[in-house]
Amino acid sequence: MSCIIELENVYVHYGKTLALEDVNLKINQKEFLGIIGPNGGGKTTLLKVLTGLIKPNRGSVKICGKNLSDTKGFIGYVPQFNSFDNTYPISVNDVVRMGRLTKKSNNDLEIINAALNTVEIYNLRKEQIGNLSGGQKQRVLIARALASEPKVLLLDEPTASIDTKTGTSVYELLNKLNETATIILVSHDIGAISKYVKKIACLNKKLLYHDSKEITKEMLESAYQCPVDLIAHGVPHRVLEHHHNH
Ligand SMILES: Nc1ncnc2c1ncn2[C@@H]1O[C@H](COP(=O)(O)OP(=O)(O)OP(=O)(O)O)[C@@H](O)[C@H]1O
Ligand SMILES: [Mg+2]
Repeated sequence: MSCIIELENVYVHYGKTLALEDVNLKINQKEFLGIIGPNGGGKTTLLKVLTGLIKPNRGSVKICGKNLSDTKGFIGYVPQFNSFDNTYPISVNDVVRMGRLTKKSNNDLEIINAALNTVEIYNLRKEQIGNLSGGQKQRVLIARALASEPKVLLLDEPTASIDTKTGTSVYELLNKLNETATIILVSHDIGAISKYVKKIACLNKKLLYHDSKEITKEMLESAYQCPVDLIAHGVPHRVLEHHHNH
């Protein structure tokens, strides 16, 4: 079944703060979209809209042709790292098992074990979550999302707190998962994401999206208000050649 994500004229306000302004986006199945943008630009808000955690003040959101109220279980969400309570006294297995809450089945155990194996933390399954390193915790959160067997995987800065080597392995993992799932990845690491994603969008209240992998001057200006500075730090204007996928 094809699963297209479609946002039309989406607005989100938190009281007087306008977080998303007229966001329009259409993403095809098995797309791998990277979203960049400044702090407070609305990236987490956009992911929360897609999970149904936040209802837009205006606009429509459709996932696989359905309204958000009917998409339970379609979406796997890996929240921004610092929003996770690390001190909670539960095991890795328990956290990953949460991924099955909305979709209980007879083969939950196999699905959980497969998710643990995919992110290579099966050997840590009995550990308390608080004893793990940042990168290991990040893998646990990805495994939890995978355990829900999502059609769409949303990740909010999954590599922000981990070293380059572990980060690279997370991106390689996402590449593999992208063979079956649509992925939307929020990251500040333009260099790394431009290597792995198929499309890039830039969000600063408004979403700039050209349906390509090109980072335009307009995007950088919208995102950071200082493209010169970014280019001076070695980020090329145009990132990699276009990359066709089917
Ligand atoms: N629960 C909330 N209540 C009030 N304002 C909020 C809330 N969540 C976010 N905001 C505001 O909405 C705007 C967008 O926030 P959001 O967390 O989506 O940004 P972000 O792009 O994810 O930023 P970062 O890169 O720092 O994670 C910010 O101005 C923020 O202060
Ligand atoms: Mg955020």
